[in-house]
Amino acid sequence: MNKIEAKKRLEKLREEIDYHRREYHVFDRETISPAALDSLKNELFALENEYPELISADSPTQRVGGEVLDKFSKVEHSRPMISLYDAFSEKDMNDWIKRNENYATTSLGLGVKDLATAEFYCELKLDGLAANLRYEKSLFIQGTTRGDGKVGEDITFNLRTIESLPLKLRRPEKKELLKIGFSDDKISLLYELLDEGTIEVRGETIMSKKTLAELNVKYAKLGKTLLANTRNGAAGSLRQLDPKVAAERKLDFYAYDLILGDYERGEVVENRDQADALVELLGFRRVKYNQLCSNLSEVFAFQKKWEKKKEDLPFLIDGVVVKYNDLKWWNLLGVVGKAPRYMMAYKFSAEQATTKLLEVVWQIGRTGVLTPTAILEPVAIGGVVVGRSTLHNLDEIRRLDLRLGDTVIIERAGDVIPKIVSVLVNLRTSKEKKIEVPIHCPRCGGAVVKEGEAVAYRCLNKNCYAVALRKLSHFVSKGALDIEGLGPRIIEVLVAESLLEDAADIFRLRAEDLRGLEGFAEKKIANLLTSISERKKVSLARFIFALGILHIGEESAQTIAQELAQRIKAEIIKPMDIFKAAKKISVDTWQNLEDIGPIVAKSLGNYFNGEDTESLMIKFEEAGLRLMPPITANGPLEGKSFVLTGSLLGLTRQEAKDKIKAKGGKTKESVSRLLDYLVVGEEPGSKLEMARKLGVKILSEEEFLKLIQ
Ligand code: IVH
Repeated sequence: MNKIEAKKRLEKLREEIDYHRREYHVFDRETISPAALDSLKNELFALENEYPELISADSPTQRVGGEVLDKFSKVEHSRPMISLYDAFSEKDMNDWIKRNENYATTSLGLGVKDLATAEFYCELKLDGLAANLRYEKSLFIQGTTRGDGKVGEDITFNLRTIESLPLKLRRPEKKELLKIGFSDDKISLLYELLDEGTIEVRGETIMSKKTLAELNVKYAKLGKTLLANTRNGAAGSLRQLDPKVAAERKLDFYAYDLILGDYERGEVVENRDQADALVELLGFRRVKYNQLCSNLSEVFAFQKKWEKKKEDLPFLIDGVVVKYNDLKWWNLLGVVGKAPRYMMAYKFSAEQATTKLLEVVWQIGRTGVLTPTAILEPVAIGGVVVGRSTLHNLDEIRRLDLRLGDTVIIERAGDVIPKIVSVLVNLRTSKEKKIEVPIHCPRCGGAVVKEGEAVAYRCLNKNCYAVALRKLSHFVSKGALDIEGLGPRIIEVLVAESLLEDAADIFRLRAEDLRGLEGFAEKKIANLLTSISERKKVSLARFIFALGILHIGEESAQTIAQELAQRIKAEIIKPMDIFKAAKKISVDTWQNLEDIGPIVAKSLGNYFNGEDTESLMIKFEEAGLRLMPPITANGPLEGKSFVLTGSLLGLTRQEAKDKIKAKGGKTKESVSRLLDYLVVGEEPGSKLEMARKLGVKILSEEEFLKLIQ
């Protein structure tokens, strides 16, 4: 191939590679296999090696090509990169609009109605790092951070590694521009800028949640410090002096602003939604959820919707940005202080707040354990009013050094129950009171005792009404017998009517017992009785778990079921078979089973030798309850144990657990040295750190899926 042919081939290759880049990184469409794309890149690389003088700045080979820097040079922005004012409520937003309308009439001399009908373009507010990209004659020549707003840092080399950022602006076709509302003369202006002028694109550089999770798995394996969150991940990458490190961090770029040469806003592009459509035609990714709103109520609905749905997004957002859609307003309203009048960041409500601890009440669990709940002075947090929060146990109270009357910081992350994170001790008045555990059960008056070294306090009255209710609720709950239609409130009614004394009574309920009770229509009775009778045959493991034996969780119930089934050797097991088999097992034998420690073994011994267990089993048997032994899956994962942390993208936790079990593997709740695998999803918890310390093998979701395929 001679040089002229090479030049032509190079141009074609670059165009082809950029086409697939755009499809994949802008639209998430895979139009070519990664292997085939690599092969195109290899050819390009080889040709450029042969003719180095033909290497161009927009060549895909130049994404990671820069040398390692010792510091970033400073660059003055062509126009300042200003900041945004924040609004936190509908009132703040209404005030903003009023201020603008006032400004329009008094300072701009406009009529009262002029601004009143203006439309808004609402965008998601991505939480990353702002960057300014400068394109000359369509070529990406310089990228900078915001810096102090006037002068930024040159991070061109690192930005070049971002695949969703075009190294050369795409030249949109005329018909594409007509479709998004361009007139013929504006199209000529744009083409002129693309051919001869300067275009600057501003936007947010971000790291996706998925990338963060994958990188942290990798870093954990290498013993490197983990990235705290996606924002730090993005900022840290862009401030790397070695572009290879930045490249590894797979960032994304989303454009949110466009500066077209020296033209004023509105001169080439008229509206913000049109600008958003244009950046996509130029080769950028854009947020596809941005939306045109015709009034503030629509804006409020947009903000509310994304506050609720933000967890579903692949990236982090901290609010929405509301912009006047018609760019003529941008020029007219201008900037005041540090930020423009023509847009506003409407942030999501804070997820922390301070309030006072008024009281601590103690709730009784199914095993009689007393759990403290904090009663708080009601406070709005994350869009809801919070008046109570869990405290787990007395240790938590002591750890926080919590006292009645304290001012506390509470936090609510996503939809989880709010928790107290710390106490503001400097605000104490010395009137605060120590929190004591009651000596009598608040429900039945029975004695409350602290058991051994355990952190739990327990009501010892085995007839405690509160304990009975909790036990029944546990028996019918999802992981246990999963009986639909038997919620805590209905259980309370049935207990009050003396229809339920223990779990076996559930299977003796008859329609005539329920008729006439409050909330029991004929249809409801029929449904309830059907779901109960469907559960007369359940797996042995569920049944063992449902019994609510102290310290027995879903995982240990499986082990116990396995052991009992092996001893009983029947296809259908009767409750008394279990009782007889279990009675023969000594505490030592229990303890020899995998996953069963001394505390659990002792608890099993106590349960099966307890005075009421035999009569309960007889009742279950007479009520017709029959149990199925565990299916022993012999699979490739036999003997392997798994713990899951963080949320998986492709499947639910239960699905993942089922898959592991179907292949003969086991799932566990906590990480130990004996664990085989930790599967890490998005936003993993402390288990990742623990697994790393203990040298447990760590799997990303992708690696896990491969393993169980
Ligand atoms: S417009 C005048 N639109 O939020 C500044 N900013 O808190 C122009 N941000 O520095 C910003 N998403 O980095 C705009 N859709 C969006 C945005 C957005 C995120 C960032 C931006 C800005 C910061 C202000």
